[in-house]
Amino acid sequence: MLEKFKKWRSSNEMDRPSLEVDLENIPNHVAIIMDGNGRWAKNKGLPRVAGHREGMKVVNRIVSRANALGVKVLTLYAFSTENWKRPKPEVEFLMKLPERYLSHELPKLKKENVKVRLMGCPDELPPHTLRAVETAIDETKDNTGLILNFALNYGSRTEIVKAVRSLATEVEQGALSAEQITEEQLGKHLMTSDLKDPDLLIRTSGELRLSNFMLWQLAYSEFWFTDVLWPDFTEEHFEEAIRVFQKRGRRYGGV
Ligand code: IPE
Ligand code: IPE
Ligand code: MG
Repeated sequence: MLEKFKKWRSSNEMDRPSLEVDLENIPNHVAIIMDGNGRWAKNKGLPRVAGHREGMKVVNRIVSRANALGVKVLTLYAFSTENWKRPKPEVEFLMKLPERYLSHELPKLKKENVKVRLMGCPDELPPHTLRAVETAIDETKDNTGLILNFALNYGSRTEIVKAVRSLATEVEQGALSAEQITEEQLGKHLMTSDLKDPDLLIRTSGELRLSNFMLWQLAYSEFWFTDVLWPDFTEEHFEEAIRVFQKRGRRYGGV
């Protein structure tokens, strides 16, 4: 993959990632809170949904760049368990986006060897939304490139509560003792059980909070915030975040 990318980088003069990115030190898992679509639209005198539509195009570009750089997992916060509070037409629009995105992009994702996944509670999703995502998951299940993990109807506290509940059931049934509940055990009951924790978290739009996103998994991740609104976020911003990440010293409590 690295060789392929180096070749692509040297052949692609117009769309060339900066040479300052160290390709030997790419974060394995990048998580992004894609925020600011509404404000982007408002600044332009457009309805909020226009921002979501524009944001979808950015997803496409960042997925390709992440894959080309050799990122293994890209988790994108697309809809939180709290976002149901928004006006119904906006929620309906957001629930149509996975279909729109995937109907355009699935062939490209397949070609780029991307594997689509869903992180979140599928039960409350409208059938048409779930169908689109499940089709993409199924059609990319054998792919071995970037894992594109869509956080859709995702809330970290709910995720943790469900994990605790399922551990409690195992204890009740005698399959597990209370002492056997460890960090590793809890981790195995989360929706990210087979993924490594994010190395880098990016949040756009200037908000400095997690908004119920991967509270457990982000314990030792590096954070990078930008004022750039998601629809204005480019591959260059993405690389800037990676370059900053590469300069950080990760100590995990050590020295
Ligand atoms: C992020 O943009 C997209 C979702 C949360 C679905 P917002 O819609 O939150 O945009 P702002 O924060 O209102 O600008
Ligand atoms: C977080 O953004 C959720 C997503 C990006 C999907 P919000 O815009 O919903 O977060 P708050 O409300 O500003 O905390
Ligand atoms: Mg927001």
